[in-house]
Amino acid sequence: MSKARYVHFKFLPMSLRVLFTMVLLVFGTGYLMAMIQVWESHAGKDGNPMLSGKDLMISYSGNPEGTRMESALRSSMADMLPDEKRQVIFEWLHNKAPAEEFEEKINPILQEHCVACHNPGANPHLPDFTSADGVSKVTAQDEGMNLHTLVRVSHIHLFSITFIFFIVGFIFTHAYVRPTWLKCALIAAPFVVLITDVASWYLTKVWTGFAWVVILSGAIMGLSFAAMWFISMYQMWFFKVPAELEDNEGKLPSLGS
Ligand code: HEC
Repeated sequence: MSKARYVHFKFLPMSLRVLFTMVLLVFGTGYLMAMIQVWESHAGKDGNPMLSGKDLMISYSGNPEGTRMESALRSSMADMLPDEKRQVIFEWLHNKAPAEEFEEKINPILQEHCVACHNPGANPHLPDFTSADGVSKVTAQDEGMNLHTLVRVSHIHLFSITFIFFIVGFIFTHAYVRPTWLKCALIAAPFVVLITDVASWYLTKVWTGFAWVVILSGAIMGLSFAAMWFISMYQMWFFKVPAELEDNEGKLPSLGS
């Protein structure tokens, strides 16, 4: 039978354990920051403050119900006009905002109820409704994150996360975890779900159900990070080494890697 080849944390020099601990502490903090960032950039897009699959669908594939005009008229701008007129605008938007109907049906409503605030003289920072061009900026369909942005975010994600999980996984190889397949699964899982996560950002544009794969991938990544983090920290400093390891100076006899 082959001798095992990994050395348990307890038999590593103190200096190496201090190095591992510091790296884990900083990565742990980084992970929390990343979670806050995910929350900030996606939660609440569907009107509900919690982070949901719907939020991610909107972020990546756009809001099928929506244009900025419609979301504004369903929320902060809802009280600016009578409901019948609001319905006229919704119908027009749902017909993809045909330009030929604008002058006759829509513009009078905007002139009466909106332009007082929405003109560059009054509020240069608000969408300008004095011209059809200004209106079209908020009636364009929301198509979500564009491919250019996705490619940029993907390559950063793929490189930086691989780097993090290489280091965390490498530290974790010194842990005592039985059965071996479980240890290997914890090391492999983040890389597998990193691929499914990034792929699903694009696939969500094709079928919005992939937003759930994004969420599931993120959850598995977080759980494997947490598991490797806590097991490594615990075994480095608090773990009572099993006798089978003591006898063999931290190398496992005959139990595989
Ligand atoms: C009393 C002034 C006022 C009136 C009248 C008004 N708005 Fe606004 N509107 C604002 C302000 C202030 C904002 C920016 C803050 C916000 O989004 O609540 C805004 C923002 C918007 C936005 C942009 C939301 C976004 O996605 O950033 C849209 C679209 C909009 N209004 C549409 C309308 C329409 C349509 C009407 C007429 C039915 C209207 N507004 C009437 C003040 C007004």
